[in-house]
Amino acid sequence: MSSTQAHSTQQFLTQGLEHAEKIRTLCSEIEQETDLSPHNPNVNRILSSLVTYLSHIENCGECSYMPFETLTKEAIKLPKLCGEAECMMEKFWAAHFISKKQVTQETLKEFWYYNNYKALWDLEKDLIETSAKDKTLVFLGSGAMPFTAYFAAWSGYNVICIDFDKEACALSKSLIQKLGLDEKIQVIQHDATTFAFTKEHFVICASLIEGKENLYKALFERGIENFAVRDAEGAYKFLYAPSPRPALDTYIEMAQTVPNEQCINTLRLFKHADLGE
Ligand SMILES: C[S@@+](CC[C@H](N)C(=O)[O-])C[C@H]1O[C@@H](n2cnc3c(N)ncnc32)[C@H](O)[C@@H]1O
Repeated sequence: MSSTQAHSTQQFLTQGLEHAEKIRTLCSEIEQETDLSPHNPNVNRILSSLVTYLSHIENCGECSYMPFETLTKEAIKLPKLCGEAECMMEKFWAAHFISKKQVTQETLKEFWYYNNYKALWDLEKDLIETSAKDKTLVFLGSGAMPFTAYFAAWSGYNVICIDFDKEACALSKSLIQKLGLDEKIQVIQHDATTFAFTKEHFVICASLIEGKENLYKALFERGIENFAVRDAEGAYKFLYAPSPRPALDTYIEMAQTVPNEQCINTLRLFKHADLGE
């Protein structure tokens, strides 16, 4: 290896160590916070710098020099804290919009991550188009403010939103009514792993869903042909815990989206193994 190569590798390794130290610092900072909602400016500051920082690492290819093995605690703690904060953030903003006289798609652009959710749908809609044609989308883990469901409805789909959180469902129903989307989007409070899926459904599973292995078994036993699940890769694994894969003799991975600066999640499309390639 030439001295220049050795020097640049050393540079990358040092950079990797700096990235790891930054992630450790941000993790210990957010662990100090008791209120993870947007009412807490500290949490907003820490989370937005974490998202920006990880997007930079992931999209500048500096991820490959990250000493992930030294960040095992953070890889467990951060997705959990970010997941809690995301649920509270969605409830905060849903209540904010519901308090308004009128709410349109334009109004929703006030939301900090509107463009990210729009970019995510624009990336995901092409992947699911063929498999979801003439089917009702079932969005699992829809939360209080299911942007994916709004964009799907504005694109012509009928959507069923499933969430086991009572408050999230109540807020979701009210905002959907305010948006005039209640003819297209139904909200059901239910555990995703035990919902009565039918062959008329195309399932999209949010990244934050608990009990994915049981969900995959339920979909397979009901002979559901295709489904899609949100996953996280590389540095984004500090924001969302990676999704387990279905057993190879149940579902085959057909395709996936490629995340970018705006879209953190990877959507993976699976096909029932018995239905072949
Ligand atoms: C806040 S949303 C976030 C959606 C996010 N955009 C994503 O792609 O992950 C996640 C929701 O999943 C719900 N959830 C988690 N596990 C669930 C399960 N097994 N059944 C139904 N809802 C679930 C939580 O209540 C929460 O409201």
